Amino acid sequence: MKNIAIFASGSGTNAENITKYFSENDKIKVAVVLSNNKNVGVHARVNKLGIPSFVFTRDEFVEGSPILAKLEEYHIDLIVLAGFMNKISDSLLKYYPEKIVNIHPALLPKHGGKGMYGMHVHEAVVAAGEKESGITIHYIDSQYDHGKIIFQATCPVLPTDTPEDVAAKVHALEYAHYPHVIKELLTD
Ligand code: GAR
Repeated sequence: MKNIAIFASGSGTNAENITKYFSENDKIKVAVVLSNNKNVGVHARVNKLGIPSFVFTRDEFVEGSPILAKLEEYHIDLIVLAGFMNKISDSLLKYYPEKIVNIHPALLPKHGGKGMYGMHVHEAVVAAGEKESGITIHYIDSQYDHGKIIFQATCPVLPTDTPEDVAAKVHALEYAHYPHVIKELLTD
């Protein structure tokens, strides 16, 4: 069995989608969810699917050892970031090289970097007059939104689209592709 840990900071619709996708799989499963916020939707979404979730403080994330202990306890093979807003520490990167993946809701290298998350990204895409947006699934490295790109998919941005319209299109791409890409990464 290959075990996934999802890190999420918000509503957790991607975490829920990924968990459901693997729920019938006998080789890959979502084993645990970690978050930096106890007051967010991801906990209820995954707990109702039988997946435990834990909250850690910023200091614990930076220091790393409580996170590493939890990942070892659940025999984690791949860390999946799904709307996770804390920077991944160097200690975690060292223990999980090329085993931490992120989804960014735009076409990197455009519209990435510190502060570019969630609706801020879609507002920037519309403000820049982009004709397309999309998703980027990439490995994590020590810089924001910078690691090696694994997969991208695009959607059109119409002149009349609001940031909310773009967000809806991008979310649809996330739900359609992220679980498949994760499965590929965990299939020998
Ligand atoms: C997703 O759109 C994800 O791509 C984005 O946050 C959203 C989380 O939604 N991530 C980033 O912006 C990272 N820079 P969710 O909590 O409903 O899955």
